Amino acid sequence: MSMYDDIEKVLLTEEQIRARVKSLGAEMNAIYSDDDLPLLVCILKGAFMFLGDLTRHLNFRHELDFMEISSYGKSTKSSGIVRILLDLESSIEGRHVVIVEDIVDTGYTLDYILRNLGTRHPATLRVVTLLNKPSRREVEVPVDFSGFEIPDEFVLGYGLDYAEQYRNLPFIGVLKPEVYGKI
Ligand code: IMP
Repeated sequence: MSMYDDIEKVLLTEEQIRARVKSLGAEMNAIYSDDDLPLLVCILKGAFMFLGDLTRHLNFRHELDFMEISSYGKSTKSSGIVRILLDLESSIEGRHVVIVEDIVDTGYTLDYILRNLGTRHPATLRVVTLLNKPSRREVEVPVDFSGFEIPDEFVLGYGLDYAEQYRNLPFIGVLKPEVYGKI
């Protein structure tokens, strides 16, 4: 059995993702310049693949840093309780900061990150997310650059996981329901 057999359907193909990440890069290229020297903050682990592709489409000078936030564990539901597992290396005071997220679901995680980073006095604080599930929102959060709006389904691949697996799938897909009990 291959892990591909666990997939019920592909929601976004590799080609669709590639094209949209390129155009998100173009949206950001229109906003930022070398002089801004933005700091892209990749939210681990889900956004690692998105960051890797996005950064190659950016034509302004920028720096990268990483932050890890506690996830749901094996559950597919947000607890609303968020914790920093890995903090930034750099100071963001006076910097132009862009949070790079994989998905905004209930909004709790992003709300926490925005409030936390906001207290560190960045010059500007914006958000780019690959995926957005607006129908699930419980906290209102500003999203400046949004790749795809998707329906209320638990998705994985292209960095997103279920129980730490499937991150390496090159597309965004949905698992067969029977797989949830097995992992
Ligand atoms: P929120 O706090 O509910 O907005 O959820 C944000 C985090 O939950 C994301 O950064 C993901 O790590 C995870 N997450 C939310 N929805 C999904 C999904 O459909 N698949 C995989 N991870 C998800």
